[in-house]
Amino acid sequence: MIAVTFVTLTIFVGLFLPLTNGCPFNGSTLNLSSRLNNTSEISESAFTFCNISYGSITTIILSYNNIRTIAAGAFKEFFNLENLDLSHNLLEVIDNNTFQTLRKLKTLDLSYNSLTNITRGTLDNKSFLVSLNVSHNKINYVDSNVFSWEHINLREANFDWNEMSTFEPWPYSLPRDINEERNVYIRHNNISRFTNYMNWTYNLKAPFMIFVYLDYNQLRTFSADDLRLYNHNLTDSESFSELLTYRLNVSNNPYICDGRLYFWAFLVRNSFFKWNQVDSYRYRCNLPKELEGEDWLHDVPYSRLVTNLTEADGCPSRCFCQTRPYLNYTLVDCGGLGLVRFPPILPRTKYPHLVLNLSYNAIQQLEETYYSNNIVQLYLANNKIQTLNESVLMLFDNNIYLDLQNNQITRIPKSILRFEYKNVSVARNPLKCYCEMTWMIDWIKKTVVGTNQDLSCTADDTNVHKIVDVTPSILKCTHEDWIIIGVVLGVVVIIIVIVGLFVKKCPYETKVMLFKIFKIHPKDKYKVDEQVGNIHDIYIVFDEKTIEVLKWVRRIFLVKLRQIKPQYAIFNPHQHVKPGENTFEELAKNVEQSRRVIIILTEEIAKNENREFECNFAEGEYCERTLEGKIIYIKFNSKVDKLLQEEPWKTRVSTKKVFSPDDRLFWSKLRYELPCVKSGSNRVHSCPDIKVEVALLNGKQIQNSASNSVQMRPIFNNIG
Ligand SMILES: *[C@@H]1O[C@H](CO)[C@@H](O)[C@H](O)[C@H]1NC(C)=O
Ligand SMILES: *[C@@H]1O[C@H](CO)[C@@H](O)[C@H](O)[C@H]1NC(C)=O
Ligand SMILES: *[C@@H]1O[C@H](CO)[C@@H](O)[C@H](O)[C@H]1NC(C)=O
Ligand SMILES: *[C@@H]1O[C@H](CO)[C@@H](O)[C@H](O)[C@H]1NC(C)=O
Ligand SMILES: *[C@@H]1O[C@H](CO)[C@@H](O)[C@H](O)[C@H]1NC(C)=O
Ligand SMILES: *[C@@H]1O[C@H](CO)[C@@H](O)[C@H](O)[C@H]1NC(C)=O
Ligand SMILES: *[C@@H]1O[C@H](CO)[C@@H](O)[C@H](O)[C@H]1NC(C)=O
Ligand SMILES: *[C@@H]1O[C@H](CO)[C@@H](O)[C@H](O)[C@H]1NC(C)=O
Ligand SMILES: *[C@@H]1O[C@H](CO)[C@@H](O)[C@H](O)[C@H]1NC(C)=O
Ligand SMILES: *[C@@H]1O[C@H](CO)[C@@H](O)[C@H](O)[C@H]1NC(C)=O
Ligand SMILES: *[C@@H]1O[C@H](CO)[C@@H](O)[C@H](O)[C@H]1NC(C)=O
Ligand SMILES: *[C@@H]1O[C@H](CO)[C@@H](O)[C@H](O)[C@H]1NC(C)=O
Repeated sequence: MIAVTFVTLTIFVGLFLPLTNGCPFNGSTLNLSSRLNNTSEISESAFTFCNISYGSITTIILSYNNIRTIAAGAFKEFFNLENLDLSHNLLEVIDNNTFQTLRKLKTLDLSYNSLTNITRGTLDNKSFLVSLNVSHNKINYVDSNVFSWEHINLREANFDWNEMSTFEPWPYSLPRDINEERNVYIRHNNISRFTNYMNWTYNLKAPFMIFVYLDYNQLRTFSADDLRLYNHNLTDSESFSELLTYRLNVSNNPYICDGRLYFWAFLVRNSFFKWNQVDSYRYRCNLPKELEGEDWLHDVPYSRLVTNLTEADGCPSRCFCQTRPYLNYTLVDCGGLGLVRFPPILPRTKYPHLVLNLSYNAIQQLEETYYSNNIVQLYLANNKIQTLNESVLMLFDNNIYLDLQNNQITRIPKSILRFEYKNVSVARNPLKCYCEMTWMIDWIKKTVVGTNQDLSCTADDTNVHKIVDVTPSILKCTHEDWIIIGVVLGVVVIIIVIVGLFVKKCPYETKVMLFKIFKIHPKDKYKVDEQVGNIHDIYIVFDEKTIEVLKWVRRIFLVKLRQIKPQYAIFNPHQHVKPGENTFEELAKNVEQSRRVIIILTEEIAKNENREFECNFAEGEYCERTLEGKIIYIKFNSKVDKLLQEEPWKTRVSTKKVFSPDDRLFWSKLRYELPCVKSGSNRVHSCPDIKVEVALLNGKQIQNSASNSVQMRPIFNNIG
């Protein structure tokens, strides 16, 4: 009671006797705490009861009053004021020029009021300010310009227990390059997300001394995207190191522990921060219920940091969808829903790889979808698939895991080779054995040791074989190799038949070709070539009076003959036999001593006496001993045809080789017919005893006689 009376008295004195020592001033501190009971507005006059010099006041304590407003200029005289305590009042608004003149202010306590916002200018020109306390108000807005480069002395700003619902990065407007910690407390607010209405651009610098406490707010998640609000170019990998520079404490928020937090957990657990200040950085889950209170940053297993997706996220109706960052895929589980088709739409997430479970449905075939190539595991066991669509198989990733067990697949297409056997499960399907399936044996055997290789197929609807044991003979297959061999053989046979027909139809040309190409001389051994004593290889008969043929023989025929190596010994009577008495004898002797007589047939040849003789002699008109192969006719041109209609030419040419220079194979045939010249062979002439006179005589006498040759025989028989 006494105390109450004293206090009442003091206030009374304080109010009504300002000049007394009742003024609660000790030389530096004016303590009006709880003394202005029924003063709701502070103005200049509030201090007039103290007859003291305002300049000597460094501290004013106005706490525990009922102050609602502060009039403009209320503190304007206190130019040496360093500490102002307005806590525990009823202030709702503070005008931004309220403290305008308090340039030396070091501490300002506005805690336990009802302030709702801190407007720009409020702390202007307060470069000595060390501490600001606005905790326990209703502040939901802090102007981005409240702090600035001039607050170099500020060490602590306390915004705890207010009503801020978003985090704006105004704490980072404080001077950045001071080597002492600045703590900005924004604990126990309602902050649930990060915003950047103030358009701040990340510009923090070492030594990163601005500490911001956001613990005990309403943050439910936290991601690199939040930091990207302030640094658009930030990559995921850089985001953790950048986060550290924010010196943020976001512990003790009601986190929903899901996939979004995996990123940070992974980074922290894999860095040296794992064991750094663990207890100040307990980031605890609020949801889901089973993880409540657990520290996701350090303790929650990665496998629990997953996100369940809803239909709004694109999860097909009734399916269960979950992103699993730790496995880097999105799970879509539509098992046992009676589906007949693949879901048309799947959720789009940060984890494009898909694990799709469609087991126990009624799907009939693999379908092409926009997400086909994102699937990493596809479970289709217990469906109604009959055929595997190759074009869809081609869409899948090579490393896909494909579970096709217990379907109705009868045949596996070869494009399955894209996948390893161990990654494809096709057991319990009614596979049929077929001849071309041997590739599957290699496919199955190539798989890693320990993989079940018992896959089997059914042949003839009854016999079950392990595919690795299947052979063409078990399946009674005609091997396609045989077909190829058959075809090749067929072609060869056809070629042989064609060649055979040609050989049969043109046997002579065949022999000539063989000789020309392979130098094989399947020569009919002419008797004439066995004779010894021949000195000429070729005796050439032509009508030198026909200019045309003379030219041809000299310029072409002889030239060409002489080019043949080794050289033929050619006897040209026109050149070698001088006209004279024994002309016929000379001619006959040389004809006799030549292996071949080439007669170039022209119209006029029979009118040339010498030539006619040569022909007749060669043809055996006088001795009937012409040897086969000795005479070769060359039909010079077609004008000679008429001559050849007549005897004896008709008979002669019908039994001899007749060539024409126009023949395609003329030279080849000629070459074939000519004897084989053995270079350096002995050409010793054993001159036969030829009675030419007799021959001539007989020739003249028996021109039409058939018996003349009989008489000649003994003469010429001694040759050979
Ligand atoms: C006045 O009081 C304050 C607080 O009680 C004290 O810190 C200060 O030293 C005192 N000043 C003087 C001059 O006594
Ligand atoms: C100011 O006065 C109040 C009561 O009048 C007292 O409780 C408080 O301790 C004083 N403050 C200082 C700093 O002296
Ligand atoms: C302040 O005034 C109220 C009435 O307005 C009164 O109930 C209270 O006792 C007063 N307190 C003091 C300390 O005088
Ligand atoms: C203070 O309050 C009392 C009653 O609570 C009242 O009578 C008195 O007039 C008030 N004084 C001032 C200066 O308002
Ligand atoms: C205030 O106090 C001073 C001396 O400290 C005195 O001279 C002056 O008259 C007083 N003023 C009032 C209005 O009482
Ligand atoms: C701060 O001081 C400057 C001059 O020093 C003045 O121009 C400006 O108006 C002041 N700001 C406030 C809010 O008083
Ligand atoms: C701050 O408070 C004043 C006074 O209540 C109000 O006029 C103003 O709109 C508020 N500003 C914001 C951004 O809330
Ligand atoms: C003080 O606040 C008012 C209203 O919020 C604003 O228009 C004015 O620019 C502010 N003054 C300063 C110096 O920022
Ligand atoms: C931030 O940028 C947006 C868009 O450029 C603009 O509309 C807004 O006024 C800016 N805010 C501030 C505080 O500058
Ligand atoms: C982001 O990159 C663009 C160009 O790549 C550049 O112009 C911009 O300044 C960068 N922004 C930041 C915040 O680094
Ligand atoms: C996701 O769903 C599973 C199964 O329904 C449940 O156990 C888990 O708590 C859910 N997780 C989240 C983060 O909602
Ligand atoms: C996760 O999958 C994506 C998509 O293919 C890929 O780009 C990324 O590198 C993978 N991340 C990890 C950690 O494997």
